[in-house]
This record gives sequence, C-alpha cells and structure tokens, in this order.
Amino acid sequence: MVRHAIEFSFEMGENGMRLTGKVIIIGGGAGGSGEAVSRRLAAEGAHVAIGDFDFDGAERLAAEIGDKASAHRFDLRDRASITAMIESVAAVQGRLDGVHMIAGNPTAMPHDADLLALDFDIWQSQIDAHLYGYAQAAKTAIPLMTGGGSIVFTSSNSCRGVDVTRLGYQTAKAGVETMTRHVARRYGKQGIRCNTLSYGMILTERAKAGLPQKFIDAGLANAWSPRLGKPDDVAGIATLLHSDDGEWITGQVIDVNGGALVRG
Ligand SMILES: NC(=O)c1ccc[n+]([C@@H]2O[C@H](COP(=O)([O-])OP(=O)(O)OC[C@H]3O[C@@H](n4cnc5c(N)ncnc54)[C@H](O)[C@@H]3O)[C@@H](O)[C@H]2O)c1
Repeated sequence: MVRHAIEFSFEMGENGMRLTGKVIIIGGGAGGSGEAVSRRLAAEGAHVAIGDFDFDGAERLAAEIGDKASAHRFDLRDRASITAMIESVAAVQGRLDGVHMIAGNPTAMPHDADLLALDFDIWQSQIDAHLYGYAQAAKTAIPLMTGGGSIVFTSSNSCRGVDVTRLGYQTAKAGVETMTRHVARRYGKQGIRCNTLSYGMILTERAKAGLPQKFIDAGLANAWSPRLGKPDDVAGIATLLHSDDGEWITGQVIDVNGGALVRG
C-alpha cells in the first residue's frame, strides 16, 4: 500500500482569525450583539459595513472604529433598502465576503402571543422582517460574493419550544433555521457558507431595559452557566464563522445559549 505524506499548512493572519481584507456587512450592527460583532470583526482586520435603521448609531460606531468601518442606512422591513445597502457596499469596496444579519423585529411581541388571538398584520410583520428580509439579503449577496463568502443569520432558541408565546416571531425564526440549510447546500459548491447563530438570553442594553426581571431570572435558571449571555459571546463565534478558520463549518444552527436546551 502506498502511503502519501500529507502536508498540513496553516497560515495565521496577523490578527489570528484570518479576517484581514474581508468586507463584511453587519445588518443591525450598531447596537446590542450587532455592535459587539462590528467591533470584533474590525479588530480582527475586516472592513465592517454597519447597517442599521439607527443610522446615527451606525455613524457614531463607524467613526469610533475608524477607517475599517462604514455606516449604512437600512430597515429590515424594507427589502429595497436591504438590496441597496448590499449592492452599494460591494460596489464601493470592490468585494463582498460576508453578510451577517442580526436585526430583528421584537416590537410586535406583546401582540404576538397565541394563535386564537392572532392578528395577521403582526404575523405578516414578523414574516416580512425575519424571513423576507434575511432571504432578500442572501439573494442579493450570493451573486456578489464572487470569491465565496459567509452568510450568518440570527435565530432564537425560542423557536424550538422554550416558551409558547410569540407565535409569528418563533415561526419566522424556525424558517430562518431551515433557510440556512438550503443556502448551505444549494450554494456550497461555489464557496458560499451559511450558518445561523440561535441565541438564548443575551443581556444587551435593550434586553436589560425592556425585559421583566422574572423573565431574566427564568433565562438564568434554564442556562447551564453561572451567567446569562452577553454580546461578546456572539462576537467570538461570529468571528470564527466569517474567518478562513471557519471554512469547514456550514449549514449549522449553532446555539449561543449557555447550554440552555441541554436536557436529560
Ligand atoms: N437578546 C436576546 O436575548 C435575543 C434572544 C433571542 C434572539 N435574539 C435575536 O437577536 C437579534 C437582535 O439582536 P440583539 O438582541 O443583540 O440586539 P438589538 O435588539 O439591540 O438589535 C441589534 C441592532 O439591530 C437594529 N435593528 C433592529 N431592528 C431593525 C430593523 N428593522 N432594521 C434595521 N436595523 C434594526 C437595532 O437598531 C440594533 O442596533 C434579533 O434577530 C433577535 O430576534 C435576541
């Protein structure tokens, strides 16, 4: 039997995670976990295009990060604005390597409680933002990622039975998890990877201000961790997924949840 010597080569970029020179759009990159992802990807060497409907916030963050960042106005509920943002970033930067969709639509949640009380306008607003919005982002980005690329969506553990409220939201997020596998399989051979980060409770400033304490206590009780999640927990795994070190990871829904769904 002939044995072939296999040579392993592993070139680390100057920043460790091999992101240098990549252009990555963060949809919802001005606040919460999006801000942490924007800061970390820029620190690892990428150009971050920070898209947000809080354009002032995106501009402030881009100015703070410096010449590795740019600010873009978009609203996840407006598909034309998603296309415009992605096309303009690719045209101005001359390449597109990553799209990370974080923005969501939590405002409707109090009116999204159960099926018999279902308001179809609320249902539609959830589907529009999470499903149409994320699909539009991937549909626009894939043909522009001529050198391959990484798409990351954001989901919620709640779509897998953590609680029985938020029907439209959870249904839309379940669709995002399914779309992840479609994109990964359909476009994988052309070098496109697609993964979803599915969050447990991440204590952003907005979550701290808006969530009732008993909800936060329940989140902590569910997690196999001494603490709840923080935005930087998302930034670390996002960095891996967008870097060359994540090249063999695709089609995955990765829980960032302190083990909250582990039972038995
Ligand atoms: N924080 C949590 O505990 C938690 C849990 C499960 C899932 N999620 C998911 O995380 C995402 C939100 O991230 P977060 O909680 O870290 O921070 P967040 O809610 O502060 O949102 C991040 C950024 O998205 C922007 N944004 C919101 N709606 C937008 C829209 N329609 N168009 C453009 N930008 C918009 C915000 O201005 C903000 O800068 C959502 O997809 C949500 O479903 C969060």
